[in-house]
Amino acid sequence: MLEARASVRSLKEYHPPLGGRVGLRLDFNENTVGCSPRVLERLRQLQFEQLARYPERESVERQVASYLGVDPAELLLTNGVDEAIHIICETYLEPGDEVLIVVPTFSMYEIYAAATGARVVTIPAGPEFSYPKNDVLARISSRTRLIAIANPNNPTGTVVSQSDLLRMARAAPEVAVLVDEAYFDFYGDSLLAEVTNCPNLFVARTFSKAYGLAGLRIGVLAGSGSQMAMVRRVSSPYNVNAVALACLPEAVADQDYVRQYVSEVLQGRERLEQEMRALKLRFWPSQANFVLVRIGERHDAFVQAMRERGILVRDRSRDFGCDGCVRISVGSNSPTERLIVALREAIRIIAPTGVPA
Ligand SMILES: Cc1ncc(COP(=O)(O)O)c(C=O)c1O
Repeated sequence: MLEARASVRSLKEYHPPLGGRVGLRLDFNENTVGCSPRVLERLRQLQFEQLARYPERESVERQVASYLGVDPAELLLTNGVDEAIHIICETYLEPGDEVLIVVPTFSMYEIYAAATGARVVTIPAGPEFSYPKNDVLARISSRTRLIAIANPNNPTGTVVSQSDLLRMARAAPEVAVLVDEAYFDFYGDSLLAEVTNCPNLFVARTFSKAYGLAGLRIGVLAGSGSQMAMVRRVSSPYNVNAVALACLPEAVADQDYVRQYVSEVLQGRERLEQEMRALKLRFWPSQANFVLVRIGERHDAFVQAMRERGILVRDRSRDFGCDGCVRISVGSNSPTERLIVALREAIRIIAPTGVPA
């Protein structure tokens, strides 16, 4: 009988809880208002020819590289950051290699790395989910080939400084260091400009969050020219579809739209954190478009109470160190107002005398 590779057979199945997401979706860190109207206009103008032809990535890649201030040879457009992670794993990992991740973090690092037969070494985050850079440095061995870091991190919203990340990359020149900046737009600090000087550093970005294009699946992977030449060998020449390529230049050109959305998210995040403080909830100040909050043992009841109020939030209590925690995405102004009202009611219902700290 045909059998999948042993490393694939031993993977856990990963089913994001996507079914029946009816309501205000604050469970996947998506954009709550959608993309720029310029993108929608472009979609309406698409001609059959553009769909009949194989997509041509290069010219859009050049435009995005110019917008991001990197050389086109340093940039690959990808089918979301998910594909960027997958390609990095396929390019650098051999069975038995080691991959270092600090948990809790985004699950796709572990999945794609383990699928190659590499060994995933998980290192617990430090106090308050801080990045334990000394523990990571101490864990690097001759077998280590990849360190993956989400910055800001999902699901905690915490960050590690650019200087610590660079120090780590420089300390291990034979290790690919992938800095996943999926939430960059809500944070503002980036290592993108460093890929030219640091040959083992890779930076990933997405258009799924601030740009509201999660459904189109577009991301960016940047790295030094010599490494990206290797990475390109692994990538399909048609990995980004024609519709995404047609829309991306419009999305990038409409920076006013992105700025406005980000500014609403930042105000909303502040407002949500204030409310959590007022409700005496334990939360972790976030640099992303979501906040992780500890609800305690009634986390299921809380998620259900929010759902009954038409708001979806994501239970993260099974993530390492996240007992009783729920992650709540932040969107534009009016969803935030709805969220605050629902949050107060849900907390009153599940914990009439308050949530234990
Ligand atoms: C840290 C992180 N990286 C990557 C992704 C996936 O991004 P994309 O939609 O570009 O595949 C997510 C999505 O939630 C994420 O949280």
